[in-house]
Amino acid sequence: MSKVTISVAKGDGIGPEIMDAVLSIFNAANVPLDYEIIGMGKSYYDQGFGNGMMPEAMQSIERNGILFKGPMETPKGKGVKSINVTARKVWSTYANRRHFRTIEGVDTVYSKAGIPIDITVIRENIEDTYGGIEHMLSNDVALSRRFITRQGCEQIVRFAFEMAKKEGFKKVTCGHKANIMKLTDGLFLEVFYEISKQYPDIIAEDVIVDALCMKLVQYPQDFEVVVLTNLQGDIVSDLCAGLVGGLGFAPSTNVGDNISIFEAVHGTAPDIAGKNIANPTSLLMSGIMMLRHIGLLKEARAIEGALLYTIENGVHTGDFGDRSTKSANTTEFAEAIISNLGKFPTKVELRKTDDKSDFKLPQKPEKQRVMVGAPAEIEVVGIDIFLQSSFQAEDIAKKIQDVLPNGMKLVSLTNRGTVVWPEASVYTECSTGYGARITGETKSKDDYWNAIKVLGSVIDISSTEFLNIINGQRAYSLGQGK
Ligand code: NAI
Repeated sequence: MSKVTISVAKGDGIGPEIMDAVLSIFNAANVPLDYEIIGMGKSYYDQGFGNGMMPEAMQSIERNGILFKGPMETPKGKGVKSINVTARKVWSTYANRRHFRTIEGVDTVYSKAGIPIDITVIRENIEDTYGGIEHMLSNDVALSRRFITRQGCEQIVRFAFEMAKKEGFKKVTCGHKANIMKLTDGLFLEVFYEISKQYPDIIAEDVIVDALCMKLVQYPQDFEVVVLTNLQGDIVSDLCAGLVGGLGFAPSTNVGDNISIFEAVHGTAPDIAGKNIANPTSLLMSGIMMLRHIGLLKEARAIEGALLYTIENGVHTGDFGDRSTKSANTTEFAEAIISNLGKFPTKVELRKTDDKSDFKLPQKPEKQRVMVGAPAEIEVVGIDIFLQSSFQAEDIAKKIQDVLPNGMKLVSLTNRGTVVWPEASVYTECSTGYGARITGETKSKDDYWNAIKVLGSVIDISSTEFLNIINGQRAYSLGQGK
């Protein structure tokens, strides 16, 4: 295999220290990689690059298809988006994959109880509230839009099953909240079971995310692969990190069809930056996943063996292990791993590595891809209008009814999702953000747009959504209490 070139961004805070440690281990293990060191992170925001990276950095990543990165600081302030999230989204790395395994030498309540843990969390990486599409509708009411798409669900669920098949896992669990978010998480769950049919040898099960958290803590040994939407996946990942000793022992990869990003899950640790005491294990483990991704299986196995052997033998940085023994600093920890190359742990098995890599250099598309699904029959039957008012629901209802065009009907008013008109409880406290549901005999969007215009003269409209019937099914939620 010819040498692969990867883009390396050392990052901020402890980033350069742990990246240097990891690259020193790669070099000692004769990993056949060339590195393009690129500029990304806080100092590039400070230099006026709005996305936190130099244009050459983008070109390097798009040419090489692999970014190996240290943690990066997101400057504080409302105007700046996280460079980490931006990188994942811009390059469509739709699958975030994190492994959480018991590591001999890292004490946890589970390791002490003899309960083995080997959980892989697959988290959708692009959609959900991480779209970051938020608006203040008034000084008091903030709105976040949560997009879940069929194509996004298909990508992540297929990734989870393919990974399970490749690595010999027997079960994939879907975590969700479809009992509350019936359309968004409902779509995720529906796609999960649809795709699971193509993998009859793998058990597919679903668990509501709150119960999942409890079960992961009570019976972590019952879980193998867990697939979730973005925010729930974020939370469940950290919970799983806690099961195996913390974020320092959790590798993370962000995989897309063209570009993939490998990074530590922790942040820049500003409190210990520059002291050469940070633990490079998370970044090293991500690097090992990167080597497997590229197909450097022999090197990945050798480095993983040396890492686990080193930890098993009690070598530790200050953040873990036996506090009564001296801690190694970052450089000493890396040197210990280097001196143990060729050795393997005695108490844990290494991950199976005889799978094949399908890594290929990115083929630059000519245009952005629009992911179009099967055609559907869509019928408009009404509109939801979101409005701001400090009036009581019955007063708002009257204003709307007075001007509503013939053939249209105000069905209900909701507040924070609860019906407050026509039936209501006086105990329901209302914010100044109301929703008005209007249905009509007409199926014409134009008629509804005209109605919105008329209504805009009597109420303060923030936004609207059409009420659709898609392929004969109601495609909008009901107000609470309906
Ligand atoms: P953090 O993970 O940087 O630190 C939390 C605590 O864990 C600190 O006490 C730190 O000293 C310790 N810690 C973290 N990594 C360690 C390591 N390798 N070895 C030893 N101890 C370690 O989280 P925090 O403080 O919330 O975030 C700091 C900055 O990092 C923020 O600007 C944040 O935006 C950024 N960040 C970047 C991420 C990325 O690049 N993917 C992920 C998370 C945060």
